[in-house]
Amino acid sequence: LPPLDEVIAGLAVDVPDFPEPGVVFRDLTPVFADGPAFRRMVEGLAAPSLEDPRAAAVAHADDGPSGDPGFDVVVGVEARGFLLAAAVALHAGVGVVPVRKAGKLPRARIAADYALEYGTATIEMHTDSLRPGQRVLLVDDVLATGGTLAAAVALVEELGAVVTAVSVVIELAALGGRQRLAPHAVHTLWTT
Ligand code: PRP
Ligand code: MG
Repeated sequence: LPPLDEVIAGLAVDVPDFPEPGVVFRDLTPVFADGPAFRRMVEGLAAPSLEDPRAAAVAHADDGPSGDPGFDVVVGVEARGFLLAAAVALHAGVGVVPVRKAGKLPRARIAADYALEYGTATIEMHTDSLRPGQRVLLVDDVLATGGTLAAAVALVEELGAVVTAVSVVIELAALGGRQRLAPHAVHTLWTT
């Protein structure tokens, strides 16, 4: 089996000048669309305690949901994180909770702002979506500046839950997201 980071790198497509000139967009939709690659990604994201993503992918390759995965619930970030978080939760045998873009959640909620390249954005969680002390695996597709995931961490912690790890498919290391999320452990399947 080829290493998972090579599989992801081989299927992802770099799109120059999207969404604006000078930015290279790493499009993961072809990786999600590939059955075996998607399965290995989900298994790898669900194994944040294994530092080496290659080892993680192997260790979980044929496991069903058994024992304690090290977290009680998966929290996924709208929108691309949703594609992964629900699958990771199913694989691990736990539930999934959404972090949504502002204005989508109908009941009592908390909000966190974060910086975009131009302006700010807001994400929200229902106040009763996590219980104090619950162990959370936070999942998204890409760690870039870390602004999105730092805001998600703040929401989870405001609810009294504990972020045990952050799992992403791609870490854009030059943008410093890992440092921004410290001391939380960041588990990545492909660092580029
Ligand atoms: C993208 C990506 C991550 C975030 C990473 O989401 O899916 O969530 O940006 O960037 P950061 O580390 O600099 O915060 P985007 O806001 O484009 O929205 P989407 O997931 O709804 O497509
Ligand atoms: Mg996103």
